[in-house]
Amino acid sequence: MLNNKNIILGITGSIAAYKAADIASKLTQAGAKVDVVMTEPATKFITPLTLRGITGRAVVADMFDPASQHSIEHIALVEAADVMVIAPATASIIAKMAVGIADDMVSLTVLATRAPVMVAPAMDVDMFANPVTRENLARLKARGFIIVDPGYGRMASGKVGWGRLADVDKIMAAIEGVVGGSADLAGKRLVVTAGGTREYIDPVRYIGNPSSGKMGYALAEAARDRGAKVTLITASSLPEPEGVTVVPVETAAQMKQAVTKAVAKADALLMAAAVADYQSRTVARSKIKKDSPGLTLELVRTPDILGEVRGKFLRVGFAAESDNIITNAKKKLAKKKLDLIVANDITDKKSGFGVDTNKVTLLAKKGKAESLPLMSKREVADKILDRVVGMLGKKK
Ligand code: PMT
Repeated sequence: MLNNKNIILGITGSIAAYKAADIASKLTQAGAKVDVVMTEPATKFITPLTLRGITGRAVVADMFDPASQHSIEHIALVEAADVMVIAPATASIIAKMAVGIADDMVSLTVLATRAPVMVAPAMDVDMFANPVTRENLARLKARGFIIVDPGYGRMASGKVGWGRLADVDKIMAAIEGVVGGSADLAGKRLVVTAGGTREYIDPVRYIGNPSSGKMGYALAEAARDRGAKVTLITASSLPEPEGVTVVPVETAAQMKQAVTKAVAKADALLMAAAVADYQSRTVARSKIKKDSPGLTLELVRTPDILGEVRGKFLRVGFAAESDNIITNAKKKLAKKKLDLIVANDITDKKSGFGVDTNKVTLLAKKGKAESLPLMSKREVADKILDRVVGMLGKKK
């Protein structure tokens, strides 16, 4: 799985840097070519010589070392990489990556690479809990970085809490997941929708909903990481994920047009978007004045995209429900003749619109309902894709 893969291992200045030697060793033993880049503080915790001995390859820590041929070859290294892993990642490197600073070998390489970047934070409890660090990590996550969450335990400072570098086995599993393990959607074309549509009343006002797009983006990224060619039709303003064809839309009508075009060659359509059900019959050309005490709008139905767009491809819908969740989702599954529906419980504050986690039940045309516990949207996405892989396999 890792044989002949090109992996860049970025090491930064944390007491946990010694564990990077174990990661480098395990990757090398698995047949990967491991190129280590280090920040200068990291070299105080573990020497480049040790890592060169383990990987059998040059290690770059000094951006300006004229003797290092390797730094000249850096661009080639960056282009060939299958994944870049930063373990341990300090609060400082996380902050630099969040804003695009490139003043050491690790941050420079991150900015230059097009490979997926995996970040395994390691820092003291208070630094990890600090809102700035949380914000920076959220920013990286939204940009498609893979975060291997730190563990809980006793720190070098004596404090107990979250911030310890994740177990090496967990980091290895995450690398395998990205690099080779799950190419089960290779060659498949998936169309994913995300975000809430806006149905305009006039040039500045619209009917909308609080969908952030996070669920749809998690699906798009997970499908990309599993080898699929993904078209993401989005009414969200989240940053565009790497390696995905992004089609921005605003209204239900625009989304329908984009979906109709994209599904022509697709194997599956997954509609995580919260599409408005109604739009104003008329859209005022100029801003409506506030002269009258009231305003009456005549609303008409928007196109039911999932209901109307049919074909040989697999169709997966979502149903955000607050009561009779399963019964209502089943009705939508039958009415829209879907292959699978994701019943989304929005009664829990940590599930549904806007948040990073979700609680869903998967309901297929045939078979038992699968209720999943609260998990990250990325984990939910992978569970949905497991089903998609199974159903596509049967369609062959
Ligand atoms: O974006 P997030 O903040 O991460 O939130 C995620 C989510 C809660 C929006 C998402 O997980 C979700 O549940 N999306 C579906 C929202 C919904 O309730 O859809 P619906 O029940 O109105 O529609 C059922 C299905 O038909 C959906 O797949 C929808 O995309 C689709 N639909 C709906 C209306 C319409 N006019 N055309 C459609 O295709």
